[in-house]
Amino acid sequence: MKTFTYLLLLVALLGMKGTHSTNHNWTAPQLATLQSLSRANLPPATDASNRFAQHPPALALGRELFFDRRLSRNRNIACATCHQPDKAFSDGKPVAIALATGTRNTPSLLGVAHQDWFFWDGRKDSLWSQALEPLENPAEHGLTRTEVVRLLLTDTHYRQQYQALLKNIPTLDALQQLPTAASPQGNLAQLQAWKQLPQAQREQIDAVFAATGKFLAAYVSSLSPAPNKLDTLAQQPAALTPNESAGAKLFIGKAQCILCHSGALLSNQTFQNIGTGILGKDSGRAAVLDTLRTDRFNCQGKHSDAPPESCTELQFLTRSRHAVTGAFKVPSLRNVAKTAPYFHNGRFATLEQVVDYYTQAAQPNAQDDNDLPLIQLSDTEAQQLLAFLKVL
Ligand code: HEC
Ligand code: HEC
Repeated sequence: MKTFTYLLLLVALLGMKGTHSTNHNWTAPQLATLQSLSRANLPPATDASNRFAQHPPALALGRELFFDRRLSRNRNIACATCHQPDKAFSDGKPVAIALATGTRNTPSLLGVAHQDWFFWDGRKDSLWSQALEPLENPAEHGLTRTEVVRLLLTDTHYRQQYQALLKNIPTLDALQQLPTAASPQGNLAQLQAWKQLPQAQREQIDAVFAATGKFLAAYVSSLSPAPNKLDTLAQQPAALTPNESAGAKLFIGKAQCILCHSGALLSNQTFQNIGTGILGKDSGRAAVLDTLRTDRFNCQGKHSDAPPESCTELQFLTRSRHAVTGAFKVPSLRNVAKTAPYFHNGRFATLEQVVDYYTQAAQPNAQDDNDLPLIQLSDTEAQQLLAFLKVL
C-alpha cells in the first residue's frame, strides 16, 4: 500500500515538471492520481463478520436504535447525540460530551464502513464490535450489558423485531430475573454480578448484545459521503477553481499529503505518528494492540460470522508497540470542512490551524520525532491547499 502511494507521488511529481501555472492543465499522471481519490474507487463496504450487514430489516432496526435516546443511563443520549446527521455525523465539539466529558474528538461516520479499523487508535476491527463500546462507556450511554438487553427485549416493538431476526432470545421471565447491572466490562460489582450468571445465560446475553451491534452497524454502513468535485473531475476537469486546482497539485505533489491521505477516503488506513500524541497520556495505537487481540467481539471471536482464517487484518497485526507509539489512524478527509475541530483530541478549531501545524511539525527542527516528511509551503501555497481541502 505504502509503496503504491510513493509510486503515485513519484508519478505525480514527474508529471508536474513544466506545469507551474495554476490553470487546469493537468498532466495525464496528475489526472490519474486525482482520479484515484474519487468515490468510484471506494473499497467495498462489506463485512463478513456481520451476517446482518446487508439486511434491510436489520438496517431499519439499526436506524431506530441509533436515534433512540432511551438507550442510555439518563434516557437522553443516543448515538445521534454525538453523531449528528447535519454535521456529517460528528458533533462540532473538541471532545465528545454526554454523561461525562471524553478525551477524543467525535469522527464523522460518512463512509466509515470502508475503513479497516475503527476509533482513532483502531481498537476495534469491525463496525458492529465498535458499536457496542459506547453503550457500556460510562461517559457515553452509560448502560451495562444486562440493562441493554433487558431494555430492548422488554420493549414490545423491539422484542418483535429481535424475535424475527434472532433464533434464541431470553424469555420475559428470564429478563425479569436478571441482575440490573452486570457486565464483564463494568466496575467490580458489575463484574461480580456478571460472573455469577450461569455460563449459558452469559452467552445468550452476549449474543443479543453482539446482534445489537450488528443492527447498528448495518445502519451506520449505509452512511456514505456525498459526491464532491473530485469525483466528477474526469467528466469536468475544469470544475475546480484555479486556487483549488493549485491546491490539488500541492496535495498530490509538493506538500506530500497523499503519502498518507490516499485513495477514495483520502486515508491509507495506516497508523502514523505525526507528533499529535501526548507522551504518557495518549499513546494511540500502541495502547490497544493487546486488547484488540483478546477482544471477545473481534473478528476471530465466537460472535463473529466470519471464518477465523479470513481475519487477516488481525492475524497480521503488528506486535511492535514501539513502532506505533503516538500513532493515530490517518483519518478520511472527505467532508473535512464540516467536521471541525480536528485531530484525535480536537486540538485545532480550523483547517487553517491544521495546515499551519503541518508546515511547522514537518520541519527538521520539530520538537519530537514523527513520521512526517519535510514540507515547505509559502503562504500562498498554504491558502491553495486550504481551498482544496474545502472541496473534499
Ligand atoms: C458521547 C458521544 C458519542 C456517543 C453517544 C457515540 N459516539 Fe461514536 N464516537 C464518539 C467518539 C468521541 C469517537 C472516537 C473515540 C475514539 O476514537 O476513542 C467515536 C467513534 C465512533 C465510530 C468510529 C469512527 C471511526 O472513524 O473510526 C463509530 C462507527 C461510531 N462512533 C458509532 C457510534 C454508534 C453506533 C453509537 C451508538 C451506539 C455511538 N457512536 C455513540 C462519540 C460518541
Ligand atoms: C505521515 C502521514 C501523514 C501525512 C504525510 C499527512 N497527514 Fe494528515 N493526518 C495524519 C494523521 C495520522 C492524522 C490524525 C492525527 C491525530 O488525530 O492526532 C491526520 C489528520 C489530518 C487532518 C485532520 C482530520 C480530522 O478529521 O481531524 C487534516 C485536515 C489533515 N490530516 C490534512 C493533511 C494535509 C493537508 C497534509 C499535507 C500537508 C497531510 N494531512 C499530511 C497523517 C498524515
